[in-house]
Amino acid sequence: MITRYVLATLALCAVVLGIQPATAAEPVDAAQILQQGAATPALAEEGREASFFCANCHGETGNSKHGEVPNLAGQHPAYVLKQIDAFLTGKRKDEFMQGLMKVLSERDKAAISLYYAGAAVKPALAKAPASAARGGELYAKHCARCHQADARGAETFPRLAGQQPEYLRLSLKRYLAQSGERFYAPMTAAVMQLGEQNIDAVVAYLASKE
Ligand code: HEC
Ligand code: HEC
Repeated sequence: MITRYVLATLALCAVVLGIQPATAAEPVDAAQILQQGAATPALAEEGREASFFCANCHGETGNSKHGEVPNLAGQHPAYVLKQIDAFLTGKRKDEFMQGLMKVLSERDKAAISLYYAGAAVKPALAKAPASAARGGELYAKHCARCHQADARGAETFPRLAGQQPEYLRLSLKRYLAQSGERFYAPMTAAVMQLGEQNIDAVVAYLASKE
């Protein structure tokens, strides 16, 4: 459980460590940096260093140890950049993440997303629960056309394989209830077709998948 106290302490650490807000005029945006042939091992290493603060919650290699914090390992860089932007514009709501994203420069964003994309995924559940097989069938029917047959996602579709079960469950219920943290109509439709009673089986499948 991430308490308000921990959040406040981390925010204070960011100030003490001298993480500065990004300067106003930057030559290129993060997506351009990745496209300009700059997506090199050196930039990924820069991302590993720049992600030291993120590691408090998302884990050192992007494999989270907190149920409600998503893994970032193996996530497509374009998806990560899009979510960072969504936090910044307020399209996606999470008080802490919205504030924190303001400290990242365009180069940080590019470097960090490149680093996480290349990090090895450790499935959140080491052993597949009994309901995982049925979950796999439901996944193939309702989800695979976007998130891909292997659940590893693509540029615009998040990777789901190996993700934290608590985060998956929470996200699916939020889309279903249209509770406002994020909005994406096709996801709401997909979870309605899946049926709320089947969420746990799909989560069991995904969280234990490599
Ligand atoms: C205090 C804990 C904490 C820290 C530190 C933190 N995050 Fe997060 N992050 C979260 C939580 C919790 C969520 C899920 C928010 C939600 O429920 O929508 C999240 C979500 C995200 C997402 C969306 C992932 C997805 O699957 O959609 C990205 C990208 C992200 N964080 C990047 C970062 C980066 C980059 C840093 C470091 C600069 C960072 N985070 C630091 C807690 C944290
Ligand atoms: C029409 C394409 C489409 C279908 C079908 C679909 N999704 Fe998604 N899904 C997306 C997109 C795009 C996003 C990111 C949306 C956003 O930014 O809020 C997403 C987001 C998610 C997330 C949040 C992931 C994260 O890291 O934050 C989960 C969990 C998810 N989908 C699970 C599922 C499951 C389970 C199914 C099947 C029942 C499904 N999706 C069907 C396109 C789809």
